[in-house]
Amino acid sequence: MGPRRVLVTGCSSGIGLALAVRLAKDELRRYKVVATMRDLGKRGPLETAAGDSLHKTLEIKKLDACSEASIKECVDSLPNRQVDVLVSNAGAGMIGPLECQSIAAMKELFDTNFFGLARLVKEVLPDMKQRKSGHIVVMSSVMGIQGLLFNDVYSASKFAVEGFCESLAVQAMKFNIKTTLVEPGPVVTEFERKVYEDAEQMDLSETDEETARIFREIYLPYSKKVFSSLGQTPEEVAEQTLKVITAKEPPLRHQTNRLYMPMTALKHADPTGRLPLDTFYKMIFKHDSVFNATLGVLRMLKRRGGKP
Ligand SMILES: NC(=O)c1ccc[n+]([C@@H]2O[C@H](COP(=O)([O-])OP(=O)(O)OC[C@H]3O[C@@H](n4cnc5c(N)ncnc54)[C@H](OP(=O)(O)O)[C@@H]3O)[C@@H](O)[C@H]2O)c1
Repeated sequence: MGPRRVLVTGCSSGIGLALAVRLAKDELRRYKVVATMRDLGKRGPLETAAGDSLHKTLEIKKLDACSEASIKECVDSLPNRQVDVLVSNAGAGMIGPLECQSIAAMKELFDTNFFGLARLVKEVLPDMKQRKSGHIVVMSSVMGIQGLLFNDVYSASKFAVEGFCESLAVQAMKFNIKTTLVEPGPVVTEFERKVYEDAEQMDLSETDEETARIFREIYLPYSKKVFSSLGQTPEEVAEQTLKVITAKEPPLRHQTNRLYMPMTALKHADPTGRLPLDTFYKMIFKHDSVFNATLGVLRMLKRRGGKP
């Protein structure tokens, strides 16, 4: 069997870039990577990171996840339109009080995070079915499992992704097509910088003073601490995604951050939903010291090699 062709979306930065490069530099040369981005003007960092693998095991193509025509043009340009592994990674974040977010901005987020995936799958699934092989890998998030304060719309978009894949996976299985949701916790990428930059500039006048204060004085500092204590590098997420792609029997779900797992486990421990709700409420509003101490312990575990 020759190398498998992997199409990755959103490779101008972060996880997509790291994954494309990791696959292209695979020691066993198992992959031919089609690294895509919506704006080829941003190809510089990927070209630099790809180094010698550029034009050998990695080629860069344009693909905008919000345009069916762009996706089709990219897939049509591939020999036999063959995509063995699709990695739907392109995505964006959104944080803040709901009252301060327009419906247009929410639709835009869903257009990328959810409909982007739906468009990609519609384009490659029929060919995968015909070939009776393929793997659909989707960059979801722990927020696709457990919602988080001030992440209402982002979390909803990732829940949509999870429901879509969970449903599709059963049909796909019939055609020998695998489906995997990769679920990172916080990852230090442009994503983090962009959401905090948006948050700093956000007009909070549409919400009440108490909510604005909670967002600015409690949520943002907590969230930044979580990123600096638990945040993974995009290379760590890429390494784990490689393992999932290589696995003979890939899992439907793969959480990349072991340190974040206790948070998502709460959800499965109590079907009424009270346990995660109470825990998050107490952690954020009542036990500042417990929250900080927990992060301190997790930071220590990470330094001592607690990374998955
Ligand atoms: N960072 C985290 O904490 C975290 C945690 C869990 C899950 N994730 C998920 O991981 C994925 C990658 O995020 P990241 O952290 O690597 O962030 P990132 O560095 O901001 O990368 C996001 C990528 O998606 C691209 N993109 C956005 N809209 C697009 C569109 N319409 N068509 C094609 N590409 C588009 C961006 O391109 P431009 O440069 O053109 O904007 C960029 O290349 C996302 O799905 C995100 O939800 C991230």
